[in-house]
Amino acid sequence: MSEKFANYVGGRWVPARSGKTFFNHNPASGEVLGEYPASGPDDVNDAVAAARAAYATWRLTPAPRRAEIVFRAGEIIRARKEELARAMTREMGKILIETRGDVQEGIDMAYLAAGEGRRMYGVTTPSEMPNKWAMSVRAPIGVVGVVTPWNFPFAIPSWKLMPALVAGNTAVFKPAGDTPEMAWHFVRIFEEAGLPGGVLNLVFGSGSQVGAPLVEHPHVQALSFTGSTEVGLGINAIAGRLGKRVTLEMGGKNAIIVMEDADLELATDAIVWSAFGTTGQRCTACSRVLVHERVHDALAQRVAARAQKLKLGDGLEPATEVGPLVNANQVGTVEKYVAIGRGEGTLAAGGERPADGALARGHFYKPTVFTGVKAGARIAVEEIFGPVLAFVKVRDLAEAVEVNNASSYGLSSAIFTADVNRAFAAMRDLDTGIVYVNHGTTGAETHLPFGGTRGTGNGHREAGHTMLDPFTEWKSIYVDFSGRLQRAQIDNA
Ligand code: UN1
Repeated sequence: MSEKFANYVGGRWVPARSGKTFFNHNPASGEVLGEYPASGPDDVNDAVAAARAAYATWRLTPAPRRAEIVFRAGEIIRARKEELARAMTREMGKILIETRGDVQEGIDMAYLAAGEGRRMYGVTTPSEMPNKWAMSVRAPIGVVGVVTPWNFPFAIPSWKLMPALVAGNTAVFKPAGDTPEMAWHFVRIFEEAGLPGGVLNLVFGSGSQVGAPLVEHPHVQALSFTGSTEVGLGINAIAGRLGKRVTLEMGGKNAIIVMEDADLELATDAIVWSAFGTTGQRCTACSRVLVHERVHDALAQRVAARAQKLKLGDGLEPATEVGPLVNANQVGTVEKYVAIGRGEGTLAAGGERPADGALARGHFYKPTVFTGVKAGARIAVEEIFGPVLAFVKVRDLAEAVEVNNASSYGLSSAIFTADVNRAFAAMRDLDTGIVYVNHGTTGAETHLPFGGTRGTGNGHREAGHTMLDPFTEWKSIYVDFSGRLQRAQIDNA
């Protein structure tokens, strides 16, 4: 019998009004893990009403006090890191060292966001009039709607909810249907840390039944979404029509550029980790290698050989290097793109599901490498979100930059070179939100802004020193202590 879980609304654990439920599964084995409310618009209404009611007092709670609760949550997460990592591997498949890293991002973010409670700096500036004071301060927005994906089910909610709460907003949190348990842990931890009821509300359910009503709800003032481009653009269209603030973090088609002078061993390690870590299911995953034609074959051979040796299995097994994909749908997408790739390049590794033993019960797919792919080929252009890597030959750095920047996405990019001049030129010219030198495309740290250019997002950044921007309004305040009417732009001209 699987455990039954509930929504968290106004500080109480409650089932969906309809009583409907759905199940989550272990993608490595198919085992049922738990039963969750399949909520609907009524449950969203309840949660938004609770968040709205709590906002009245939460926004007036001093920011350092709000931040202390986030800090305490960080302490609880730290104490439970191993338990949370294991639960995450069971729920979404990535291997233990990676789920530990995901939880660690939550801890890092909690401490970083907690510090903002005693900063949240505004700006004071002189007035153009005598005896007049001018300043601008950050103010919370109100109720924020937070919609998160399954691939970083602890880190991504942390990037969004922790700063949102420190800033004085209240929130309704709708997690991905594949990872409800991690969202449940997240909210339980905040309850335990002493967060007042109604400040953070959790509603489980589908995009159409929970996500859409949340986006459209008139009392939800701001939205933060990480997930697919298709869903993100849909949210953006609705938010645009309703005039709501929305922060989007969507797809990626991240390239690692390898020049002919690069350390090929190091580049191989980085490519294998960036392309096949999290089974390729990161927004930051490397899915194309733009390699100088002189070293294409040597590098491709090394990477393909390593890809073939990677050990697939249940992520809880210490020897496992690559876990399953999250669900059957993702396997279907990978299969579709591998079929396309067969016509676009040479298959050098993988290209099929493992048929053997226990692996056949899970959503596994062999790490796959195509070489000699043209820059404009579909597998080199479209986001696959799985363990599929395309090698594209380039003549020089200029062509590599051009191919990188031709992508409709702009999250992360990397260059391997021993030439400092080329490294700096690449840092300047690669049009992505994150650029790495002699390092793969994954592994962003929480105290730097995270996000991408072009189709990856809509100009916002999460975490880092920018963490409060999506969740605060700037309020400009003037205090005239002259005791008379002073008309700006007129009396002093
Ligand atoms: C994501 O894939 O959406 O930089 C987040 C990284 C991680 C976060 C990835 N720290 O790969």
